[in-house]
Amino acid sequence: MAGGPLRAEVCVPGDKSVSHRAVMLGALAEGTTRIHGFLEGEDTRATARAFQQMGVRIEAPAASERVVHGVGLHGLHPGGPIDCGNAGTGMRLLAGVLAGQAFDSSLTGDASLSARPMARVIEPLQRMGARIDAREGGRPPLRVHGGQPLRGIEYALPVASAQVKSAVLLAGLYASGTTRVREPHPTRDYTERMLAAFGWPIDFSPGCATLAGGHVLHATEVHVPADFSSAAFFIVAASIVPGSELRLRAVGMNPRRTGLLRALRAMGADIVEDNPRSTGGEPVVDLVVRHAPLAGIEVPEAWVPDMIDEFPALFVAAAAARGRTVVRGAAELRVKESDRIAAMSRGLRALGVRVDEAPDGAVIEGGSIRGGVVDSRGDHRIAMSFAVAAQVASEQVVVGDVENVATSFPGFVALATGAGMGLRAVSPPA
Ligand code: S3P
Repeated sequence: MAGGPLRAEVCVPGDKSVSHRAVMLGALAEGTTRIHGFLEGEDTRATARAFQQMGVRIEAPAASERVVHGVGLHGLHPGGPIDCGNAGTGMRLLAGVLAGQAFDSSLTGDASLSARPMARVIEPLQRMGARIDAREGGRPPLRVHGGQPLRGIEYALPVASAQVKSAVLLAGLYASGTTRVREPHPTRDYTERMLAAFGWPIDFSPGCATLAGGHVLHATEVHVPADFSSAAFFIVAASIVPGSELRLRAVGMNPRRTGLLRALRAMGADIVEDNPRSTGGEPVVDLVVRHAPLAGIEVPEAWVPDMIDEFPALFVAAAAARGRTVVRGAAELRVKESDRIAAMSRGLRALGVRVDEAPDGAVIEGGSIRGGVVDSRGDHRIAMSFAVAAQVASEQVVVGDVENVATSFPGFVALATGAGMGLRAVSPPA
């Protein structure tokens, strides 16, 4: 259902990565941490529930506000199996925290999370002395054995992953000696920044982080910026729908997240960064996005890690653009909430777009988008991307399996329609 131009001022919900970390560090800190702008998504609520199960008192005085009564690094109690829902970040970071506890724990997830690779966190944590069992192939559920003394390691990440880096650093809080993580390409550094904000001594620069165990986390106040990855759907929609002029307020601009802006600008997008400021140590801006004709590009592989969550949205921009867009070096997309290369390729083909899939990317022949029926495979970002594609489709687009939009973007349908998008939730509204 195509809508009209997007002409509005909107503020998307709080950052998912920051919200997960704020709850975790708040729980492990001494004192009371206040979180403003907490993402009320299923993923981040699951993380909060996990710590509540382990004895942490967390209050929600208002929507998007949390008060976390920290129990200190060693104050968690066993609380039964922890359900991380759809959240890879929740499970991987929790594995690092739980590896350092005196008690056994287990981590489970939904069907999508249960199919995602966990060997990438188990392997370095085992090197630190942790004992973690998984299902065959390193898949969840995970059983983390407590009471294992951990030692610091030097670890070179085989893949650029902020989740793996963070799991190792969080285990490093409990380890003897120094833990150092090196990355093949710098990834989002929220864990490092937030550890510093909670008073834990840490050295970090793009691509490397070093800390030692034996310190204390001190409660603080966390201001969560609006999630760039949620803003991405609006940025692409306003870019491709003629007549649009959209202002997105207070969007987090961590440089390890904003690769999509680079790619869209290279395609000809008109995006202005207005009123730069900082929120809780993170750069934020208001983004003003106006419609502009886009042309396909070859996305340089070096840009991929800085836009890893934005490829579904980029695929839609590519489908609406003139000419060919080439994505390579993005094999990680196959192990996200769904196989995003397959989900986007098949979905776009169902809408009449020519897409050639490759193991590590795709070639998209842009031009026009027809109507049709697509399956989001239960992946929030695939569902929202096709909602954006529908805005420029010549006929109706029906997107199935959309409930998981609420994992990262509660209220998406209302915000999108308020901004001018044509969109209707048929099954349970997200
Ligand atoms: C995240 C890291 C990224 C990203 C995910 C959130 C994080 O995953 O895709 O949505 O909060 O650390 P990887 O570490 O698997 O790249």
